[in-house]
Amino acid sequence: MKQDLIDAQLVPYVLTTGANARHLHLEVDVGRPIELLRVEDERNAEFCKILNRGNQLAFGGADSMGMPLWVMLDCAILPSAMIGYMLPRAFVSDTLAAQLELDDYQGYVPVSEYCACPTVEDKCVSGFSLHSHMSGQGIATRTKAMALAIYGARHQIGVTQFYNPAIRVHVRFGAMEITIHRPTVHTYAEDSFVYRLDLPPEETLLNMARGTDVFGLSEIPEGVRWTFDPDNEVSQGRLAAHLHEGGRAWIIAPGWRATEEGCQLTLVLG
Ligand SMILES: CC(C)(COP(=O)(O)OP(=O)(O)OC[C@H]1O[C@@H](n2cnc3c(N)ncnc32)[C@H](O)[C@@H]1OP(=O)(O)O)[C@@H](O)C(=O)NCCC(=O)NCCS
Repeated sequence: MKQDLIDAQLVPYVLTTGANARHLHLEVDVGRPIELLRVEDERNAEFCKILNRGNQLAFGGADSMGMPLWVMLDCAILPSAMIGYMLPRAFVSDTLAAQLELDDYQGYVPVSEYCACPTVEDKCVSGFSLHSHMSGQGIATRTKAMALAIYGARHQIGVTQFYNPAIRVHVRFGAMEITIHRPTVHTYAEDSFVYRLDLPPEETLLNMARGTDVFGLSEIPEGVRWTFDPDNEVSQGRLAAHLHEGGRAWIIAPGWRATEEGCQLTLVLG
């Protein structure tokens, strides 16, 4: 099926509680009507289970970083909202339908998702679980932008892995400041870092959600540019020492690129 036909069928969804919905910016214009899915409505139960299977699929299952169903309710839906795009069943490929175990389900199918929860800092959210089953068409970028606009977020913190191409998505929202290098409390501590983004204005987020802007406005921090190889322990040591001594480090666009040996990140040290 042609991509533009599929794209035209994408419906934005917000999965949350009826009580939470009142605190979200559901009136924003993301280019098409937003569908509110209340978790307390039993008719959405199968959608939630499919969304959870999609998360497991994207994050390597329960033994890796896949979210158990109860965590999805307790830590994502109840404190915040899971936000993404869904497609009518007929527009989902046979491969994805099999992977998500759709069987005879005929409702809308979630094909992307992002969740971020409020933090103790006003308008700062902690983001996790970004995924997209429609690679390379800008869906992850649009999903994250839409969610951040609906939360009314101005800052975002998150954790990712040096080798994760999702860095190319995150860096579109601004320079990613590395705030914790290799956090010890993580399933993949050696590969991970904590980052912070000061987000573009809501108008820009909405343009990104509509797909009209690919990048948010972002100033490049002043400092020394560095092509960082995460497989090089000398480089990892240099980054750790720089942060330990009070220096700052940002990942700047394009952020991440694959190499023959692994990957490289574009950093600025300040
Ligand atoms: C990473 C992921 C979210 C990207 O979704 P997507 O819909 O393909 O993302 P977009 O189309 O918005 O892509 C944005 C950029 O990322 C790049 N990208 C995405 N996946 C890539 C890959 N596997 N290899 C190289 N680049 C990739 C795209 O090429 C694009 O960059 P460019 O236009 O500057 O070249 C998706 O592959 C996924 O769900 N991965 C598994 C879950 C995961 O790791 N999530 C991230 C948690 S931090």
